[in-house]
Amino acid sequence: MSSELLRQIRENESGVPTHVAVIMDGNGRWANERGLPRYEGHRAGMKSVREVVEGAVEVGVEVLTLYAFSQENWQRPRREIAFLMSLLKTYAKSELQDLVDHGVEVHVVGEVERFAAPERKAIETIIDATRGGEHLQLVLAISYGSRSEIVEATRRLARRVAAGQLEADRIDEAAFAAELYTAAWPDPDLMIRTSGEYRISNFLLWQLAYTELYTTPVLWPDFNREHLFEAILEYQRRERRFGRVNQ
Ligand code: IPE
Ligand code: IPE
Ligand code: MG
Repeated sequence: MSSELLRQIRENESGVPTHVAVIMDGNGRWANERGLPRYEGHRAGMKSVREVVEGAVEVGVEVLTLYAFSQENWQRPRREIAFLMSLLKTYAKSELQDLVDHGVEVHVVGEVERFAAPERKAIETIIDATRGGEHLQLVLAISYGSRSEIVEATRRLARRVAAGQLEADRIDEAAFAAELYTAAWPDPDLMIRTSGEYRISNFLLWQLAYTELYTTPVLWPDFNREHLFEAILEYQRRERRFGRVNQ
């Protein structure tokens, strides 16, 4: 089944999206439906992370950004946050070899300073150990908020103007984008949100300007590589115009 979808994607002349971003949502509802505590949904969601990472490598996506924890998520109950933090450390350990074997290079975007030392150490370890992976750039958005990313970029530019290193008139879109966490990667071509929600939730507000949006009712722990391939096939059917008229 997944190899048939893969064949269809490869044969499509529209090409594979270079950058796919995902809002991994619906873990709590998945657990509720089964009468389980919310954290069981988060635990189950790890398998889906593995699925989409491997699926992205198989299909030839170059950059995969996963929204794992928002700045607003810091307002959740302490126990839930603590569980998510322990999951982050587990992920960094248990997936490391698999990521290296698949040629995945891990990056992290977000306010990492808000994490305690053990989480920061786990993040550093996974970044260091996967450096040089050539098949996929995996960008984990954790403690991430797009508005604060934009404010921080503005602050950095303002400081350079105040120091006389930059003329205000020279600030253009490229100069601005270069100050964002995501400066190294092209904007997402496709953004997937699971669990049937139709909102951005403070994710990549600048970067999504011309991204194709795709939502699916599938809850994150049920999401697998076939769902990813279906989203990519739908993307290939879209006509991207960027404000122009296609002949
Ligand atoms: C997504 O699932 C994971 C995080 C935001 C950390 P949720 O925990 O938001 O699950 P729902 O949306 O309550 O079902
Ligand atoms: C968005 O999901 C954040 C992540 C998936 C990490 P939320 O569940 O936090 O978003 P809202 O509250 O439904 O907008
Ligand atoms: Mg949610």
